[in-house]
Order: sequence, then C-alpha cells, then structure tokens
Amino acid sequence: MIIITQQCKTLKIMQITLTRPDDWHLHVRDNDALKYTVPFTARQFARAIIMPNLTPPNITSQQALAYRERILLACPPELNFQPLMTLYLTDNTPADEIRKAKQSGHIVAVKLYPAGATTNSDAGVTDITKCYETLKALQKYDMPLLVHGEVTDPDVDIFDREKQFIEKVLIPTRKAFPELKIVFEHITTKDAVDYVLAEDKFTAATITPQHLLYNRNAIFKGGIRPHYYCLPVLKREEHRVALNNAAISGNPKFFLGTDSAPHAQNKKEAACGCAGIFSAPLAIELYARVFDANNALDKLEGFASFYGADFYALNRNTQTITLQKKNWTVPDHYPFLDGTIVPLHAGETESWQLI
Ligand code: DOR
Ligand code: ZN
Repeated sequence: MIIITQQCKTLKIMQITLTRPDDWHLHVRDNDALKYTVPFTARQFARAIIMPNLTPPNITSQQALAYRERILLACPPELNFQPLMTLYLTDNTPADEIRKAKQSGHIVAVKLYPAGATTNSDAGVTDITKCYETLKALQKYDMPLLVHGEVTDPDVDIFDREKQFIEKVLIPTRKAFPELKIVFEHITTKDAVDYVLAEDKFTAATITPQHLLYNRNAIFKGGIRPHYYCLPVLKREEHRVALNNAAISGNPKFFLGTDSAPHAQNKKEAACGCAGIFSAPLAIELYARVFDANNALDKLEGFASFYGADFYALNRNTQTITLQKKNWTVPDHYPFLDGTIVPLHAGETESWQLI
C-alpha cells in the first residue's frame, strides 16, 4: 500500500493506492434493480459476496447460478467485476446441494438467516440442529457458513440479540463442527469482537461502515431517521469503539463487508420502513474516513483487500485503486427503479474520493 503526501505551494495533496478491495457482504437485489446497484460496487471492488435473500430466496445452486448471470449482464464488462455467489440455508437444504454448489465453481458460501431475523428471512432456519448434516458437508468441502447473528425470540431485547446468538447458536455449533469456517457477519458489539478474538482461525467477522461510524443515537437525532436503520441495529458508543479497534488492529479475523442493502426511498421513509443501509456508492471512501480518523490508514489495505480473500482461500487481487483526500458532497439521492434511493451520508461532506 502506498501513501503519498505532496505539498505544492499552499495545497497539500494526499493519496493512497491500495490493492483493489473486495466486499465480503453485499445485497444488490434482482432484475431491473441490478443496473442501479451493481455498477456502484463494481467500480470499487473486484469481487463481492452476493447475499441470497431474494424473493424467493436462492436455495439451490441452479438459482444462484442464474442470478449470477443476471448480475453480470447488469455490470459494465470493462469494470471486470466478479460476483461470488451464496446459497440460502433452510431447515431442508440437502447436504448434496453443498457438493453441487462447490462443483459449480461460482458458489463460495452458504448464508444462515435465522427465520424471521431480517429482510426476506422467513424461509430461513428455525433450529440450527436441523441443518447439521448440511453443516457437515460445508465443513467437508471447506465452504464458509455466513451467519446473520441474531436470535429471533421476540422476548429478547433487540439490543441483546447478537450477544444471545453467540451463546445459544454459535458456541454449540462450533462445538459440533470444530473446523467449519464461520463468518460472523456485520458484527455490532464488543461481545462479538471478544468472541471472534477468542476463537481459532476458523472464525472471522465482517464489519460494516455504518457500525464503525455511528452509534444508536444516529437513528434518533432530532427525529426518527430511517436511513440509519439496519439489522443488526446500531448499538451503544462503547460497541462502536470496540469495532473500530478490531478493524484497525491488523488482525486478519476482521475484514470488510458493507452489507449495503438497497431499499427505495419510499420503502425506507414509511410507517414500517425496511431495514437496510445503502452504502455502495461510497463504500471504500467511508472505510478510508474511518481508518484515517483512527490514524490507521496503513491498516486499511489488509482489512479491505487481503484478509477476506485469505479466509475464503481465494487469490488476492492484483489491480489497484487510488483514493484522494478531497472533500466532496454526497448526493441526496440516486435514481432507483421508478424512484430514488438515499445513500448513507446523503447530502454531507465526504473527505476521501476514489479517483
Ligand atoms: O439491514 C439489513 N438489511 N439487514 C439484513 O440482514 C438484511 C438487509 C436487507 O436485505 O435489506
Ligand atoms: Zn446483509
């Protein structure tokens, strides 16, 4: 990674060049939406793990491969972007589906949504022990299990759902499958950081820009702010600080996953607004700001470009991207289908820019 600071007369120019990053957790939706979502990611990232929570979800390899073709059609070929596909785990996913997925060469992981935890999770898993034969196959084929780590019991406080998931689901699953690769997705708490740190090399975690930049006050600042609502929901400041420390630590267990989750503006600004934050248009810039604010720009490349690929046992990218320290104003919204979509940090000043 190269960091350049040039001083020309009064102007100080700072640039960083890093290996082209990957996004290890992304939603791009389907069909007509793809041409509005995929290019934002493809101009920054070489690859992205594509979430399978469509309606209906991608529960078979055949569905995931057809979806991959639709994504590629929506992407300008010169951007040279590779979607990495996932299967949606259900109580009934046959173990043999894992073999088919592995053999496809394009499906790299399986996603566990606890049933009812989030957007399009109704077909998800009701009890992880029902999936043990399938998890056995995942372990055998060295395919990571990606987990949305929240319990769904409505009696559990929404701010405690991640912590309880560790105790109720992750610890027993790990005990049953010691060498299953698990990615604890979009972690939001110090409890999750501590859990991942205490585990061995088979457990890793992704961290989103919103959970690094904001605490839960952002959702209620001067009124209800739906564009800061995602699941798992933003947490207290002490958790945000723990996530920042994990991200900039240089520990390869923590890597980039935006969880950019596009919903049209009118679906967010509604009496029952959808969960999901759209960060794709400025994802790498948001992370650069986080690392810069922590005086840790030298740790950005490992987090964004190396550790995810290493965990998934994929090659690191060889292309590079360059970011310049330069203020620009994030658009209030972008076109999306027959309406608009609001990005994270809309209308505000961003301090880094991809060039
Ligand atoms: O906020 C979220 N939005 N969290 C998820 O887990 C799903 C996602 C979506 O698909 O909109
Ligand atoms: Zn997600």
